[in-house]
This record gives sequence, structure tokens and C-alpha cells, in this order.
Amino acid sequence: MAFAAFFAREARACQIIFRKEVVIRPAFSCRKKIIQKKALLIALSLFISAPVFAKRQEPLSSWLYREKTVAVKRMFANISPKGGAVGAVAASPSRKNPNYWYHWVRDAAITMNEIVYRLDGIETPEERQIETQMLKNYAAFSRLNQKSKAKTGLGEPKFNMNGTPFNGAWARPQNDGPALRAITLLHWARQLKSQSHKKELNAIYNSKAPQNSVIGADMDYVSTHWKQPCYDLWEESFGFHFFTQMLERKALLAGAKLSQESGNFQRALFYKNEAKSLEVEIEKHWNSGRGYITVTVDQSNMRYKNSGLDSSVILGVLMGNTRDGFFAPEDDRVLDTALALENAFRRIYPINHGRKSIGIAIGRYPEDRYNGTDVFAPDNGNPWVLSTEAFSQFYSTLASDYSKKGLIALTPRNLPFFKSLPLKRGDAASLKVGETIRNSDPLFQSLISALRKKGDGFMEVVRRYANSDGTMSEQIDRKTGRMVSAANLTWNYAGFLSQDRARR
Ligand code: NOJ
Ligand code: NOJ
Repeated sequence: MAFAAFFAREARACQIIFRKEVVIRPAFSCRKKIIQKKALLIALSLFISAPVFAKRQEPLSSWLYREKTVAVKRMFANISPKGGAVGAVAASPSRKNPNYWYHWVRDAAITMNEIVYRLDGIETPEERQIETQMLKNYAAFSRLNQKSKAKTGLGEPKFNMNGTPFNGAWARPQNDGPALRAITLLHWARQLKSQSHKKELNAIYNSKAPQNSVIGADMDYVSTHWKQPCYDLWEESFGFHFFTQMLERKALLAGAKLSQESGNFQRALFYKNEAKSLEVEIEKHWNSGRGYITVTVDQSNMRYKNSGLDSSVILGVLMGNTRDGFFAPEDDRVLDTALALENAFRRIYPINHGRKSIGIAIGRYPEDRYNGTDVFAPDNGNPWVLSTEAFSQFYSTLASDYSKKGLIALTPRNLPFFKSLPLKRGDAASLKVGETIRNSDPLFQSLISALRKKGDGFMEVVRRYANSDGTMSEQIDRKTGRMVSAANLTWNYAGFLSQDRARR
């Protein structure tokens, strides 16, 4: 604007009217002066807009590459941070509005599972040693949590950063915690086993007396508590939750495997049978009338949370994936749920309106009232970074799962989902119920690239709203797109790494 005003003033001085049909020719010297000024101004404005321009033009893959470094660094910063016990993982360094300076069992397990994945690909022995130590510390800290006199024992959702139980009022128990902790440590146990690291393995799983080790204690808890209702992962609703149950099932199956291999056949059988009975309960979340998987069965509080739509269903599918087809990402019911969630979040968040972009900002659930403060009010809920990342991970996972399978069967249930993908109009129109598209068909490749494109679309959204230094807070303001609530949320960075694994 300042440039324009300046330019106009100059022009007036030379008595030129800036229109195409300039009739009065200014004197030569004046024209030359203007041309010089004009060139200078163009150069100057290009220079000034260069960073903005560069940001917009940077290919997503290049941003993701840079962001990964930020994610790893910021995630590490919250593991055994200064001021906390060794092995504790802070949910966020934020000490007020909101205070997330706690070791949340769920967030910590999700984070440390990414460390286990990293160990598979780590190159230098130094790095390997550092990250192995992180896991050892986490396992030891977790064992102390289990043994402490917490109000709900192993179902306790969070601990003070010094390891003592948090005794204030809270939504407890949350039974996804011990399941997730077991999943992470069982994942690590599998790795240690394959590398014959007996000593480390024995420290987390005692095959003679499982109940005396961190994994065994969680398995005991999960196998005997899954029949009881509890609070959900968002620490609000009480009942039986799809997310919690999917993780309990995965923990039971992984626990059964390790028990079997260690000669604890009775335990293995018990866990397997419990997992089977649990499957019957998980099936109850499918609501054919609504056409999506509903989040909670027998919900006894929060009457305003009534659509049953919740992005934690997608998180449960991803984190509870046992690769045996049970509520797998490509299950028609899961695809329908993803589509229903997207439609709801597109509608309710102003930042998603009027955008042609492929991805959208995703929140926890449509009726959410939590914006990081104590003020709970309708329409307060915001999109969340970790939920948006999960949708990206979901689409990337679908792309690679279908690629491996080599075919896509179109059914009455999944057709709307596939039609909603970013496809060429002709391709979308040619999709018909009853058809099976094989990888020899060019349409198959179009569908796979559309799934990948969609996955990237969600990371475009994350990039759009992340701080310019790549740091990310828990939420994205639904109206302004600003980062709000807990800064540097550890789960955001772990979620980034999960999405990155799926994308590769
Ligand atoms: C209430 C929120 O709804 C819940 O999700 C959150 O975990 C707690 N407050 C803690 O901040
Ligand atoms: C609130 C979220 O609802 C919950 O899932 C999380 O564990 C805590 N914040 C800590 O990040």
C-alpha cells in the first residue's frame, strides 16, 4: 500500500494517468525516471515478499523433511526434562493455561513407542545407546508408577513429574493407559528378543513371575479390567470406548504371544480368550443406522456429546492395528467413519470453510468444548494437530495397504469414500459397486495416488497452521487458525513421526 501511494504521488508529479490508454505523453526524462522507479519498486517488493513466496512454494516433502528434525528435537526435550524425574515424559512444558507438566501414561507410551520404532533405523552406536537408555529409564519410571499408591492403581492417568501420584480430582481410571504402556514395552521386548538382548528383556518381562515386571503387571491389569467402564482418552466421557478397547485387545494379543514364547501357556490362552470376548464388545460400536463406528457404548455422562462421532476411532484403528483385519484401516466401516468425521469437521470449523484444499483441520469430536482453558462452552472446541496428523497417517496407511494387497473391491458401503477422493472426474464417475479394481488397471494407480494426495493434504494443513519455526501447540483456533493451548505438545511430535513412518 505504501508503495502504491508513493508510486501514485510520483506519477501525479509527472502528470501521468496510469491507464493503458495514456494520451498525453510525458516528457522523455520524466518517463525514464518513472521506468527506473518502477523497476526499483518491483525489485524491492520481490525481495520483501521472497520469504513468504519461498514458504508457499516449498514442496511439502521438503517442509516435512525439515519438520522431522524439529519434531525429534522437541520430543526429546520433553523426555526426562530438567526438573522432572529420569524416565518421566512431560505431556508439554506448559505449566499454566493449561498445566501439562505431568507424566501422562497415555502420552508417554505413545511417545516412547516412537523411540522403539526409531531404534530399528538408527545408524550410530551412540544414538542407539542414548535412545535405548531413554527406554530403560521410561520402563523403570513406569514400574515405580505401578508400585506407587495411586488412587486407581494401574488405571491412574497421570503422575507428577517427580514420579509421585497425582492425587487431585481427575477423570480416573483411564484404562487405555496400561494397555498402551504394555503395547510400547511389548514392542520393545520383541525387538530385544530378536537381538538376543536377554538382560534388558528380563528387566521388563519376568517370565517366571510376570506379575513382578512392568509388562506382566500391565497385562494382569488389562486382562482383568477390560470388562469395566472407565474414562476415555480425552479424560471426559465414562463408558466403554472404541479406542480403549482396541488397545486393550492389541495388548492382550501381543501379551499372549510373549507369554506363549516364554512357556507361560496358561496365561497365553487366558489373554487370547479375553481378546476374543473383547472383540464381541468392540463390534457393538458399529452403528449401521448412523453408518459409522460410534465412540462410546453405555456412556453415562456428557449428554451433549451425542453424535458418537469421534476422531479417536481413527486413532484406535491406527494404534490398535494388529494386521489381522479386525477393524483394519480398509474395513468399510472404518472408511465410512473417516468420511463422516471429515464431513462433520469441515462443517463446524470456520477455518475449513471456503477452502478448496484437499485436507481439512480435524478435531477430537464435533461437540467438543475444551479449548485449553477452564472455560467449557459450546463451539469452543478446536481442531487438534494430533488428530489432523492421524488422518494423514490413516490415508498413507491405506495407500500402502492397498498397494500390498493389489486390489480394491468397491462395495455399497465404501463407494462414497472412494468417490470422495481427489480423483479426476472421469475416474470418480467410473467407480461402480461390485467392481474389483486390480493393480493391472490404471484406475488402481489413480486411486493409490489419490489416497497419498489426500494424506499429504492433511499435512499441508498442519504446515499451514504450525508456527514458522516448526513448533506446534495442542490446538488450532477454529476461527483464526492460530496455535492455541499447550505449547510443544509431545504427542504432536510423536504423531508427526507416526505419520512420517506411514508416508514412507
Ligand atoms: C479437560 C479436557 O476436556 C480434557 O480433555 C483434558 O485432558 C483435561 N481437561 C486436562 O487438561
Ligand atoms: C488432553 C487430552 O485430551 C488427553 O488425551 C491428553 O492425554 C492430555 N491432554 C495430555 O496431553
